Amino acid sequence: MRILTGIQPSGKLHWGNYFGAMKSMFDLQDKGENFMFIANYHAMTTVSDGKQLRESTRDVALDYLACGLDPEKTVIYRQSDVPEVQELAWYLSCLTPMGLLERCHSYKDKMAHGFEATHGLFAYPVLMAADILIMNADLVPVGKDQKQHLEVTRDLAQKFNNRFGEIFKLPDAYIPETVATIPGTDGQKMSKSYHNTIELFDPSAKKKIMGIVTDSKTVEEPKDPETNSIFGLYKLFATEEEVAQMASAFRAGGYGYGQAKKELLAAYRRLFDPFKERRDALQRDPDALEDILKAGAAKARQAAAPIIEKVRKAVGL
Ligand code: ADP
Ligand code: TRP
Repeated sequence: MRILTGIQPSGKLHWGNYFGAMKSMFDLQDKGENFMFIANYHAMTTVSDGKQLRESTRDVALDYLACGLDPEKTVIYRQSDVPEVQELAWYLSCLTPMGLLERCHSYKDKMAHGFEATHGLFAYPVLMAADILIMNADLVPVGKDQKQHLEVTRDLAQKFNNRFGEIFKLPDAYIPETVATIPGTDGQKMSKSYHNTIELFDPSAKKKIMGIVTDSKTVEEPKDPETNSIFGLYKLFATEEEVAQMASAFRAGGYGYGQAKKELLAAYRRLFDPFKERRDALQRDPDALEDILKAGAAKARQAAAPIIEKVRKAVGL
């Protein structure tokens, strides 16, 4: 089984990305043939500063490697190092109905958030389909918000097969039901667009945790743990027993939000301090990082080669 996922380097990765996407990918590392790529072409739909794009691409690679991606088990590469992706995107574009893209939520969302209506943003799902189909992926771990893009991918694969012969497998999205929407410091979904994130290696993590918005109940008052985001976040880091303890402390009263925030900070550090050490070591050796990405790209291109060959022949080139 081939498992593939990608992430855009469009800002620093945060807890929502870790628990919503990265972790489920790491959990699958022993379950198949794994590919993970940094979608730097996709990021260009929203990032227009070259230096920033280059740095974010490197940061995402460092974050994945530090937090658990093992390059012996998972091929990690930059999207732009595999030109076959762009080539396939064009072939798919030629059979993509406009209406299919017009229905995509992500495009409409971006418009609602004031982004310029570019062709790149509009065609984003076609490029994503190309990422997936060029690697012949069976399973694509993504967040809930990407479900529609997987439907578009299947749709395009089917259209291509109908027109040119059976070349593509229809990939399945892997959206673990256990992964909830991770709340941000303001209680809304954690997202860089809402400026409510805590980054994976955030130097101001403590300040952000202490600043998590709560209601104004006093320490003495009993509280419903399910309605505050401190508890929602603590659940991600803590053991079942610790979670049960915090829940009953909240319900009993005499347990304040400040105390809960301190416990959340400690639980975060317990998980992330070792990752930070690994990240610092990787960061000190940029050549080694480049070697990992180059080796990944070579393997990805090897996997793409037979597919693009068949596709070129099928379309008449
Ligand atoms: P952002 O919302 O900060 O722009 P992205 O859209 O780039 O994040 O998300 C990349 C991946 O991380 C996606 O698979 C997405 O579903 C997952 N993800 C991001 N934020 C959250 C969240 N708050 N809860 C769960 N998963 C998330
Ligand atoms: N659109 C995805 C996101 O924002 C990133 C992505 C691009 C992707 N291409 C992909 C994910 C292919 C999985 C497979 O999260």
